[in-house]
Amino acid sequence: NLQDINHKNISVELSKNPKTPLPYKDLVFGRSFTDHMLNIEWDSKIGWSNPIIKPYGPLSLDPSSVVLHYSFECFEGMKAYKDKQGKIRLFRPDMNMKRLVKSANRIALPTFNSEELGECIKELIRVDKHWIPQERGYSLYIRPTFIGTQAFLGVGPTSKALLYVICSPVGPYYKTGFSAVKLLATTENVRAWPGGTGDAKLGGNYAPCVKPQIEAAAKGYQQNLWLFGKHDEITEVGTMNCFVYLKNEHGENELVTPPLDGSILAGVTRDSILSLARSWNEYQVSERKITMLEIIQASEEGRLLEMFGSGTACIVSPIKEIRYRNLDIKVPLDPKNPSSNAGPVARKFADFLMGIQYGEIPHEWSVIV
Ligand code: COI
Repeated sequence: NLQDINHKNISVELSKNPKTPLPYKDLVFGRSFTDHMLNIEWDSKIGWSNPIIKPYGPLSLDPSSVVLHYSFECFEGMKAYKDKQGKIRLFRPDMNMKRLVKSANRIALPTFNSEELGECIKELIRVDKHWIPQERGYSLYIRPTFIGTQAFLGVGPTSKALLYVICSPVGPYYKTGFSAVKLLATTENVRAWPGGTGDAKLGGNYAPCVKPQIEAAAKGYQQNLWLFGKHDEITEVGTMNCFVYLKNEHGENELVTPPLDGSILAGVTRDSILSLARSWNEYQVSERKITMLEIIQASEEGRLLEMFGSGTACIVSPIKEIRYRNLDIKVPLDPKNPSSNAGPVARKFADFLMGIQYGEIPHEWSVIV
């Protein structure tokens, strides 16, 4: 009988050399880490071993470990927030835990009880709670990582794996609040394709996107707009999901995001935006395909109203311009306020989501640790 993850069996070894957290203003996304990490090993003969919280430090891996050769790696990104009363809050952590199981399954890594992993992560956050910044815009970014560790060069399922979790205190993605970005619509490379792995959070999906990102940056664009298919359907933007707010051909205001057809990552922020928008009932909300042609036509007819990316790292990222083939498409921000760096729809989602995350707006999505 193989053992599953069980948070009741957790052991804690505290760091003998705790560090001093950086001042908030010096925090750079993902550069500094807390004093502790969570490790849980898996062996095909034993199952999951007891979870261990121990000092943050290097891993010891055999050079032939399957992760280093065939990319047996998946991960999650989630945040812990400290509210005004000092309570620690997670945002929909169950969704991240379930997605990690799904990603692991896609690359034949073992599955586990997602609720138990969630409880172990809460324990880690409690141990490192003084690392969670207590200011709006700041949080503790949590990075569950799952790798295959068997020492073996054959291509096949791994018999050993390691699930570990590290934490990084982070500030606002943009130093000056919102800052709308310019995108290069990428026509030479694709991020994901039907039957591929675009809907799993695998490290292997990210590395191939960096070269196109460098090429976009060299031309003055902050992110790639990822397209797919002969009709250049919009899929994602940078490492984020993509939303388009427009007046559609029937004259109705509509918020559109591409459907979860297997090549789109099921973002937690994406899901939250859709759910909020549907509950507000102010405009049509659609998960449907949207092509560059539709964007161009909407833009030419003055019907393109806003576009933005959504993700855990920056929550909402407004878009101000898209370079597509030889066209420059201007995306409106706030027509009432020309100096604004975000449109009203993007801003409302960002404010509302942060309100929930920091415990200012009571909501079941905010889970007290
Ligand atoms: C996001 O939250 O938008 C991400 O995809 C995180 C990134 C650092 C991988």
